[in-house]
Amino acid sequence: MLLQIPNVLTYEQVVQCRTMLSKADWADGKITAGHQSAKAKFNLQLPEEHPIAQQLSAMILDALNQNPLFISAALPLKIFPPLFNCYQSGGHFGLHVDNAIRDVQSLDGQRVIERVRTDISATLFLSQPDEYEGGELLIEDTYGAKSVKLPTGHMILYPSTSLHKVNPVTQGARVASFFWIQSLVREDAQRTVLFDLDQSIQQLSTVASEHPSLVQLTGVYHNLLRMWSNA
Ligand code: NI
Repeated sequence: MLLQIPNVLTYEQVVQCRTMLSKADWADGKITAGHQSAKAKFNLQLPEEHPIAQQLSAMILDALNQNPLFISAALPLKIFPPLFNCYQSGGHFGLHVDNAIRDVQSLDGQRVIERVRTDISATLFLSQPDEYEGGELLIEDTYGAKSVKLPTGHMILYPSTSLHKVNPVTQGARVASFFWIQSLVREDAQRTVLFDLDQSIQQLSTVASEHPSLVQLTGVYHNLLRMWSNA
């Protein structure tokens, strides 16, 4: 399932991100790429342990935890702390699949605190589409390639199993946050069923909140989640 989550960050939060990121020392994006994807990756990235990355990452995690649409769609078990990248001057990232497992390191980089299986990939846009040329995120899906370029503060979720790439940014700069989610429900198809069911229940409850079938449907939702979750 490809899903847009609008307004993950407010305008003020986006401005705060951009202001702080404009003062940061960026590094070569190959630092978090796997062996294969390093050959295709040409961008800048903020090192994970950078204090600005730490502060903004915490702000984004906080916003995600309060976003009902994100929770309903992703059913997060673990979230890899959000990272930040910048594409400019022809920067791009060729076709690849994200690494299956991501290690969250301690601040001194000496040990692995947590291991996150990447079920869902997320890109949160921090530049307005008219600030740069190119830079579309192209995600291959069973229906063909989907091109994604969203307003600031909006986010796209897509299965980490998807082949994807970022087109060259030929003018301006494209700043974004990106991260991965290990879901309670590993299979995309099962998450999609649960998301559709949850959204239908919520819509029904606004027009027929006393209908007895709502209790039954909610029970079905929880029983499916119990059956499919692997927390
Ligand atoms: Ni990727």
